[in-house]
Amino acid sequence: MSAETAFDDSGLVPAYARQPIQFVRGQGARLWDADGVEYLDLQTGLAVNSVGHAHPAVVKAITEQAAALIHVGNLFHSAPGAELATRLAQSSLGGRVHFANSGTEANEAAIKMARKAKRGGDVVSVHRGFHGRTYGSLSATPQEAKQAPFAPLVPGFFAVSPTVEALTAAIDAQTAAVILEPIQGESGVYVLDDEVLRAAREACDHHGAALIFDEVQVGLGRTGTLWAYEHSGVVPDLMTVAKALGGGLPIGALITNERFAEGFEPGDHGSTFAGGPVQCAAGLAVLDVVSDPDLLARVRETGERVGHLLAELPGVVEVRGRGFMLAAELDPARAEPATELVGRALRDERLVLNATGPTTLRLLPSLTITDAELDEALARLARLLDPQESR
Ligand SMILES: Cc1ncc(COP(=O)(O)O)c(C=O)c1O
Repeated sequence: MSAETAFDDSGLVPAYARQPIQFVRGQGARLWDADGVEYLDLQTGLAVNSVGHAHPAVVKAITEQAAALIHVGNLFHSAPGAELATRLAQSSLGGRVHFANSGTEANEAAIKMARKAKRGGDVVSVHRGFHGRTYGSLSATPQEAKQAPFAPLVPGFFAVSPTVEALTAAIDAQTAAVILEPIQGESGVYVLDDEVLRAAREACDHHGAALIFDEVQVGLGRTGTLWAYEHSGVVPDLMTVAKALGGGLPIGALITNERFAEGFEPGDHGSTFAGGPVQCAAGLAVLDVVSDPDLLARVRETGERVGHLLAELPGVVEVRGRGFMLAAELDPARAEPATELVGRALRDERLVLNATGPTTLRLLPSLTITDAELDEALARLARLLDPQESR
């Protein structure tokens, strides 16, 4: 099927704006379309393919587990889930894990656990935050366009500016939870200041509220540490992860500290597929790869190098982010919106990028992408941003 073919999506609810391309194969940082045309992937399925496409350890884990047992359900013990839970908790907050199938579901679990502990209470989030599309997570996602069509939302959710003053004022005895992304991904890669995270931590401690960090996008090595909270030293009570965890399979996890380790009891919360053996086997393989200190050091150093190079590209007025989670803010005076640039990048340069808004390009390369591939991607981006080339 040619890249220019009109695809018949008439059977699908039109909930996504899709590019006119069908990828049929991936390997490392590269993708191939149905015509065999090769692309460089800096989007990684929106921070999912962090270990690259078809990583041999992930493929092996999935195929071996699928051949042995695909599903058994949560009414029985399952070794991959038990092992993954222990490793996730021991690498972070020291409590326990409750599995979900996605980022939004992991956040639902966190919000429910926090409210159960407080016997009700409010949930505070911050402007520009994104936590998912189900009702609890959506209610904590203060974006008019995403919320308004689906009103009424869940009561007891409030959003404030991500500042020390606003958070300190908003968190009180009624607060059950504060939910924050250490780096706000969907809204354009905005790094929250350490003082903001610290202020949230202090106010939560003072009022007995749970501090939830949503590491769905930033976690698992993307910023050059296994967990993004390590950069600030501010440790949450609850942390949610998803995206990269399954190497492409759907899995999410709520990780707790000791205090919340028994935050649910049988009957409180659950999901048919959550913590299934195949996704958890994939998760163990992914965790092995992204826990490697050499890989993490490289993500930190290379991320910084790429950030500097991005800042020098024509039309880039600001670079935000950390590690391999970067945004290039484009000069608003450019005629071509970033969303159109992404289409031209695919067509003309075979480069897979993401735009979070009309002036923001987001780069989420795999953590295993080579230096040569990154240099090639930057060269392609430079051509795309060259005012002589844009049309
Ligand atoms: C920070 C954050 N939280 C939650 C979600 C929702 O995850 P999912 O799409 O797996 O439900 C996303 C997705 O982009 C995210 O970036």
